Amino acid sequence: MSRNHGPNMHSLRNLLLGQWLCGERLSGKTVLVTGANSGIGKETARDLAKRGARIILACRDMAKAEAAQKEIIEDSGNQDVVIRRLDLSDIKSIREFAEIINKEKQVNILINNAGIMMCPYSKTVDGFEMQFGVNHLGHFLLTYLLSDLIKRSAPARIINVSSMAHSWGTIRLDDLNSETSYDSRKAYCQSKLANILFTRSLAKQLQGTGVTAYALHPGVVQTELSRHLSIPLKFAWMVGRPFTKNSVQGAQTSIYCAVAPELEKESGGYYSDCAPATCTRSAMDEEIAQKLWELSCRMLAITWE
Ligand SMILES: NC(=O)c1ccc[n+]([C@@H]2O[C@H](COP(=O)([O-])OP(=O)(O)OC[C@H]3O[C@@H](n4cnc5c(N)ncnc54)[C@H](OP(=O)(O)O)[C@@H]3O)[C@@H](O)[C@H]2O)c1
Repeated sequence: MSRNHGPNMHSLRNLLLGQWLCGERLSGKTVLVTGANSGIGKETARDLAKRGARIILACRDMAKAEAAQKEIIEDSGNQDVVIRRLDLSDIKSIREFAEIINKEKQVNILINNAGIMMCPYSKTVDGFEMQFGVNHLGHFLLTYLLSDLIKRSAPARIINVSSMAHSWGTIRLDDLNSETSYDSRKAYCQSKLANILFTRSLAKQLQGTGVTAYALHPGVVQTELSRHLSIPLKFAWMVGRPFTKNSVQGAQTSIYCAVAPELEKESGGYYSDCAPATCTRSAMDEEIAQKLWELSCRMLAITWE
């Protein structure tokens, strides 16, 4: 497990540059990015395409996916960028997607990036609260379904895009789906806390397989994630613009976790600004992580031991 500590000179330098500088190539590797048609996911995919990997853009809207594919191919000169349909709010779609991906020769880097924030109360096709369902359960199931292929592709990495919003989250073990009461902010924070707890458990689960796992906070990034914010919050988001990152800057920690050679032997840690970072005590709670794992398996009707 990586140690958790605050930003250092290295991370400050990265913060000032806004871009992680590393010439590492990925020729011969396959990368899968969820939610790759916009924001952080698209910029992550673009960078990794420039490094020569085969890129799979996993998106729910195929028109947006096609536009992103065209843009990334033109910009990177890498023709090996493909799109596949994945709706993380639908178990059937996740299973169909995984069946197609499992025919790939390999997946060396899985980036669980897609996300939805502070939407009004709604349910996934399978009846899970939307943010918990998409941000946590959807990626949990996807990772499970691809885990054998990823292990066969080792050395391999799994990256879960979390958020510093995990700090305000609690895992409501008795009501993960917010059925008794719903607060869109708390539900988002719960889902992002779940991303880190999942990463910790995953690292344990994958010990000795050559597959490592990382969770990260990308920064406060100007993307379409703010679409469900109330008008006052949207206004605050706009006013804060000069102090936030653009999508390219926001993608850097995902790229760092996917590529940095020095992370090869690390697993289960939390990163921000291209460096190890501090997560809350709740995000390091092994007991909650274990309970969340068990409940997630039960909700998805899978056995993952
Ligand atoms: N922006 C920030 O300040 C910030 C801060 C901390 C963490 N994050 C995290 O960063 C990640 C990327 O977010 P972003 O800021 O780049 O936002 P974004 O531009 O809204 O991108 C989110 C992506 O997720 C996709 N998505 C949403 N629901 C989906 C579903 N049911 N199935 C498949 N894909 C789905 C979206 O697809 P559509 O285009 O079809 O909706 C989009 O491609 C998220 O996990 C977010 O929680 C962002």
